[in-house]
Amino acid sequence: MMQRNNFDIRKAEVSDVSELAELEKLCFSAPWSENALRETMEGDNSCFLVAEENGRVCGYIGSYYALDEGYITNVAVHPDCRRRGIGQALVGELVECGKQLGLLFLTLEVREGNCAAISLYEKLGFKNVGKRPRFYTNPSEAAVLMTIYI
Ligand SMILES: CC(C)(COP(=O)(O)OP(=O)(O)OC[C@H]1O[C@@H](n2cnc3c(N)ncnc32)[C@H](O)[C@@H]1OP(=O)(O)O)[C@@H](O)C(=O)NCCC(=O)NCCS
Repeated sequence: MMQRNNFDIRKAEVSDVSELAELEKLCFSAPWSENALRETMEGDNSCFLVAEENGRVCGYIGSYYALDEGYITNVAVHPDCRRRGIGQALVGELVECGKQLGLLFLTLEVREGNCAAISLYEKLGFKNVGKRPRFYTNPSEAAVLMTIYI
């Protein structure tokens, strides 16, 4: 377990899913359900990490991998806990996990207008490698594809 300021980063457990689903509702217009989170977490090729503070989950990152390709599905930090380095710690730790797994790259999609997330990924070395028009709904928006070779 990594100790960072007041929070820890650890592997997610299936018992965390209800807290992850609550975070999803707080952070996204199309939140993942508890079932969707559980199914992905229980897959053989997934890696989910949580940030925990005083026994409460305050952020998480989800990913899965296929051969040497890693896909980040979601990153979310509780609105009350933002701008304290939690998102950066989660993504940074996942990149470390990806290295240990021997992944070639990690990639993700992010809403074109999500400046906070895009800045976070750029700070950690992800590059803008493409765009998918009208990828998102509610509201409709393009996705920027961002990738880091590790
Ligand atoms: C994006 C998100 C995960 C960032 O989490 P966070 O814990 O607040 O981020 P950090 O404190 O680690 O910030 C790291 C860097 O990211 C960038 N950043 C984060 N929030 C930012 C904001 N609101 N505006 C501009 N840059 C921002 C900055 O470069 C920041 O470094 P700095 O604080 O030294 O300036 C969080 O805002 C969130 O959960 N948003 C809603 C869900 C979401 O959009 N997820 C991404 C889906 S792809």
